Amino acid sequence: MKNIVLIGFMGAGKSRIGKLLAKKLGYKFVDTDEQIKLKEGKSISEIFKDIGEQGFRDIESQVVAHFSQMSNLVISTGGGVPLRKTNMDNLRSNGLIVFLSATPQTVYERVKGNTKRPLLQTEDPFATICKLIKERTPYYSEADLTVETDCRSPLEVVQEIVKFAKLINR
Ligand code: S3P
Repeated sequence: MKNIVLIGFMGAGKSRIGKLLAKKLGYKFVDTDEQIKLKEGKSISEIFKDIGEQGFRDIESQVVAHFSQMSNLVISTGGGVPLRKTNMDNLRSNGLIVFLSATPQTVYERVKGNTKRPLLQTEDPFATICKLIKERTPYYSEADLTVETDCRSPLEVVQEIVKFAKLINR
């Protein structure tokens, strides 16, 4: 069966929903950020500090290419993955792409105080979130399915994705 790939902004709930979804479908769960940390033996913040965002993106693309070749996976991706066309092409070659959307307000509430996301360590994280979401929405909108996560429980979101996956994968 094709992979289910979760894309979307930081704080959209990709990892939490991905784990639940994998359990429900009997698929394995893979989180690209976790794989990058394992591969490099460092945190995401350390990688950004040592080799910069582009260096991080190159490792991210390698990880994406690797797992795109497999099947029966739920892949939770870092928020910047859809920005590279090769990443989306690889993920789409054997996967259904699901965009988990969230408003800037929701994202802000979910991530405020978290220091593990280098791109949000700015003077005005809410303004940064608004700017990045605006820039990235065209990329996220290339997904096969968009599911809103505002005011919805992870279980509700999972149920909607399962319905879609069954329809497409049958
Ligand atoms: C990033 C999102 C992060 C992580 C890195 C960059 C982004 O992952 O990959 O900090 O560019 O949006 P999450 O979306 O899992 O927080």
